[in-house]
Amino acid sequence: MACHVELLLGEPLIMKLRLQHFAQSVFIAILSFSFYGCDKGDGHITLKLAHSLDTGHSVHKSMIFMNERLKDLSNGTMDIEIYPNGQLGSERDSMELLQIGSIAITKVSTSPMEGFVPKMKIFSIPYVFRDEDHLWRVLNGKIGQDLLIEGEAVKLRGLAYYDAGSRSFYTRDKPIRTPKDLEGLKIRVQKSQTSVRMVEALGGSATPISFGELYTALQQGVVDGAENNPPSFYLSKHYDVARYYTQDMHTSVPDILLMSGPIWNNLTTKQQTWVQEAARLSVPYQRKLWKTSSDAALKAVEEAGVKIIQPDKAAFKEAVKGMHDSYKGSPVHELMQQIADIK
Ligand code: GCU
Repeated sequence: MACHVELLLGEPLIMKLRLQHFAQSVFIAILSFSFYGCDKGDGHITLKLAHSLDTGHSVHKSMIFMNERLKDLSNGTMDIEIYPNGQLGSERDSMELLQIGSIAITKVSTSPMEGFVPKMKIFSIPYVFRDEDHLWRVLNGKIGQDLLIEGEAVKLRGLAYYDAGSRSFYTRDKPIRTPKDLEGLKIRVQKSQTSVRMVEALGGSATPISFGELYTALQQGVVDGAENNPPSFYLSKHYDVARYYTQDMHTSVPDILLMSGPIWNNLTTKQQTWVQEAARLSVPYQRKLWKTSSDAALKAVEEAGVKIIQPDKAAFKEAVKGMHDSYKGSPVHELMQQIADIK
């Protein structure tokens, strides 16, 4: 896959991306020698948190809220230091840093998490959830809660899910109205094999690129489009370049707050309870902010001249039937059926 991406990128952009990656690695290496979620000797614990989103995003605001709750609960003995905008690397990098205890907390999309916890692929399969209520009934029920702790075995301890709505396509040069319109288009996806399969099932050609590199890739025409929820489309300013947003809502991929297994194990039971409670309290706050910010983002891009398209979703659902069938006989298919049975 890396080869495939490099062939598409062209030399100058590849150099730039490599330099960015090198600079990030050096930064991470330097920071790794500092204390990440450790007691600095005075009994105070600062947990480092890295995420890929903008500071105007409901996720970032909810992390600030979580920090306040943690300070209250711990009587000022614990706090969280937030590194937004992918400063410490991609979501994949963050999960790796969590595993070695170089950072304490991250928020990633459950899509790239499938590389660490294969069952997470369920969220990147299109049209598994009927609507938002269905998704949240699943997340708050046994299936979602079991999946949340599934990463413990690989040192990624799930703390909570955050709302990330549903994902839809956006394109630079021509609108997508039916799956046929995706033919021949290079569409950026997250680093998730299931997302690659989803775009290919719909007729497009999938290109995995990390979120931080996507603006340039869209601008330079490395890809013809991408897919995301309205707040990320808006806050990343991808709408500057991609002027068509098609609300086909193919997937409902939640965000997940993860804690480093090694750092978690170093906390006392009391400290663990405070962290878990602060995360839990931040969820209703984030979900409330999400609703308003998602509507506001759609309105803002429309006002900025983006054409919003309401396609007939039936054609998209029909196009991914083969993908759904391909899971028959596997545990994922069983999970899909259990999810479909949840009313
Ligand atoms: C969503 C998600 C991010 C992720 C992004 C992406 O916006 O909240 O965590 O980075 O999608 O497409 O990469």
